[in-house]
Amino acid sequence: MTEGHLLRISVNGRDHAQSVPPNLSLLDFLRDHLGLTGSKECCAVGECGACTVTVNGEIVNACLMLAVEADGADVVTAEAEDDAELKLVQDAFLETGSIQCGFCIPGMLMSARQLLREGQCDETAVREGLSGNLCRCGGYNRMFEAMRRAAQLRDAETEKSDPSPKMVGASAVRSGGRERADGSQKFLADIEIGNVAHLKLVTLPVARARIDAIDVDDAVGMPGVLDIVTAAELPQPIPRFGPVYRDRPVLADGETRFHGEPVAVVAAETKEAAESAAARVRVAYTELSAVCSIDDALAPDAPLVQEPQIRAGDPHARSNILNQRQTAWGTIEGADADLVVEGTYTFPMVTHFAIEPHGFIVDAQPDRLKIWSPVQHPFLLQKIMAELFDLPLSQVHVIAPDPGGAFGGKQNPKFEPLVALVSRRIGRPCRLVLTLEETFQAVRRTATRMRMRTGFTSSGDLVFQDIEADYLIGAYGDIAERVMAKGSYLGCGPYRTPNARINARAILSNTTPATAFRGFGTPQMSWAYESQMDKAARQLGIDGLQIRLRNLARKGDDVVKGDFPADGHWEQSLLKAADLLDWESELPPGRGRGIAVAIKAGATTGLSNSTIRLLADGSIFVYAGTSDMGQGARTIFAQLVADAFAAPMDRISVVMGDTSSVPFDLQTSASRSTVFMGNAISRACEDLHRQVAEMVADIHNVEVDSVVISNGNVHLPSGPLPIHEFIKAELGRWGGELIGTGRMRKPNVKDHPLGGTPAFFEFNCTAFEVSVDRDTGEIEICKHVTVGDVGKALNPLQVEMQDEGAAIMGLGHSIMEHLVLGEHGEIRNLGALDYRIPTTKDMPGSLKTGIVENEDGPGPYGSKGVSEGAILCTAPALAAAVAQATGAEICDLPLTPERVWRALNPPRPQPQV
Ligand code: FES
Repeated sequence: MTEGHLLRISVNGRDHAQSVPPNLSLLDFLRDHLGLTGSKECCAVGECGACTVTVNGEIVNACLMLAVEADGADVVTAEAEDDAELKLVQDAFLETGSIQCGFCIPGMLMSARQLLREGQCDETAVREGLSGNLCRCGGYNRMFEAMRRAAQLRDAETEKSDPSPKMVGASAVRSGGRERADGSQKFLADIEIGNVAHLKLVTLPVARARIDAIDVDDAVGMPGVLDIVTAAELPQPIPRFGPVYRDRPVLADGETRFHGEPVAVVAAETKEAAESAAARVRVAYTELSAVCSIDDALAPDAPLVQEPQIRAGDPHARSNILNQRQTAWGTIEGADADLVVEGTYTFPMVTHFAIEPHGFIVDAQPDRLKIWSPVQHPFLLQKIMAELFDLPLSQVHVIAPDPGGAFGGKQNPKFEPLVALVSRRIGRPCRLVLTLEETFQAVRRTATRMRMRTGFTSSGDLVFQDIEADYLIGAYGDIAERVMAKGSYLGCGPYRTPNARINARAILSNTTPATAFRGFGTPQMSWAYESQMDKAARQLGIDGLQIRLRNLARKGDDVVKGDFPADGHWEQSLLKAADLLDWESELPPGRGRGIAVAIKAGATTGLSNSTIRLLADGSIFVYAGTSDMGQGARTIFAQLVADAFAAPMDRISVVMGDTSSVPFDLQTSASRSTVFMGNAISRACEDLHRQVAEMVADIHNVEVDSVVISNGNVHLPSGPLPIHEFIKAELGRWGGELIGTGRMRKPNVKDHPLGGTPAFFEFNCTAFEVSVDRDTGEIEICKHVTVGDVGKALNPLQVEMQDEGAAIMGLGHSIMEHLVLGEHGEIRNLGALDYRIPTTKDMPGSLKTGIVENEDGPGPYGSKGVSEGAILCTAPALAAAVAQATGAEICDLPLTPERVWRALNPPRPQPQV
């Protein structure tokens, strides 16, 4: 037993005296001993800044400081009340739309507060001062503005404006933003469950191994250890699960198939006890040869990643090909092109790096399950768990707290089945919160290699596209086969392509299971087809903007022959981006410009339901199965309802994330929520309007059809009255409530390769102006522009923040991010120290977003989905700019300084001897 030290400390003005172990971090003290969960844990190595606090006025990463080191100190956290500077930066972040998922925000605000205290609010100082705080939602551009605003507010020279006009089309502030700013938002790891046991995984340091023996003797008797579970302790055959293929075992059974696949799990009273015991579990194993690349996986003698019986009956089961698709129209062989350009392009494995690592809590009883998981698809999790545990859906209760960033990585179940099995064994709720390193080993984007042949006329008109795309997925199917299918289906991009042949394969490998990731296979394909477009433009002497305008599909044109046609005036986005970049102006010396376009298919099928309760006092509950992971769905839904009943936003509560209270929604992905759930909510509002009309008809003895409702007002003989006030007047405090329901359903289309036609396309144009340091290969991004065709911006501020976030995430995979594998197939750059994502210092000199609105989408008010667009073609636009600045054509991502330098300095031919 470790001896305790008496810690006397002041936190947010309150004095505490507690006995603490000497190895307890200040972060754990704040979170676990004081319940101040506003400081978040992500990287645990002082790199992400999510745990930033001040100690005696100095900025500190609380994960790196021992609690005893803070003895006698004055500590301030994001929860501090009556702190003027903190309040100012909180308000400014809210007003400027700097808060998305919010997981990074408490730490970020502590750094922002410090800058404000020091009077360092200009952009240069903010770039430096916030660079130790990572925001994967990419809200940095807004934060520069927020700091300017905070300084204005502090100097009291600017009147604070009403931040919330509360109308569709207005930039209403984020619902739930205040809780994210003051640290009171409860993310998964902040939830307290009584009598919970803590779990820790045991893994191997290699990609593939035969498990020879697992010795738990040293671990099992350690203090606090409750259970140690290996595959042998689980039901046989080992339970398997997956969203498409039931191929993933809950624990490695006899063999591990990727680095990080757990072979055992320890349950203990505390997380420290679980970690200590997991380190004492000894696994004897024999390393087996692994396939970690496309070529290795396709080699004739390649070992199979999955045993054939796992996919019995599948024609590909005896290969490492999980599935393949072909899309074709016209003819390639006979196509008459004046110019054929060829290229092979690679897109690396990258990781989601949500600042909130994955976490799961399950309370499993023999006849029911209660699951807490920040999952994007709570109802899919419910279904998979019900099937796995042979329970009715009604006995599987999923509570899905808002994720602290997800980006596709939290769509599908990961460790919920394992946690449930352990919970059942020990008869206690169990909690597994992964480290950032473990999260890296749980999800990633598919890596892709694309071989392209593209034919053009001498005038620059597309003649054909001939594409082979291999998506390297991981050891289990997850959703990656659909990523391949959907990404490659639009492999010709947003162009009129007379002839096309697209062959795509999803290839299994001994790597982290790949899953959905913002863009869902499109950033990979656009990297290739847009690079081809630029290659042709250079060879034909045509400007990059002009060749795109020449080939871009106009509204109503096919992009895939016979399928859903172009649904927007996309050329407007192209022209707007060119305008924002000042494309036609003279290029400054040494600089280059690039422009690119891309489309992604929105959701193709599915059902979303909503229920709305109009309460007796005129306040309103909205129930939606959507997951609010930073995109701000809750705000949009509240805006729709506010207008429908002419009600103030603060009278509306949007309830999400609980399968026992909200009606079914298929999923939160594919930028579908504004269209699908937005329509469901609008229809529920219409249902309520009908009921209000019936009330008016009864009260005033008029025909129902004669009652006029418009702009959220009901027109009474005495004049128009906001509906929420009418309800308050008529129902009174105890007079019951009205309940409206609405839904949007898009059925499957038989034999359609994607299951159905897209509900909409997400179209984006991105453009850059750069200079390149020829001595180092470093790219300086002078200007970055992104323009999306959004139909109607229901909340322009949120559209902009989503676009900017996607743009910065796109910069990540374009210039710095890639997972590096070692000789054993192990990931060598696990965690925040070795895997870089953009910080404030990486922000472009200028980042501008533009919106095209023609109200021609299928969602409310003519809206379309947004939030993925600006990541779709970041890389090819940037590479085109680099090529113009330097002449270097680079086909592999990311464009690291080393890669650019090597392209500029190819090896000299060796002299002949
Ligand atoms: Fe910064 Fe999501 S708001 S990580």
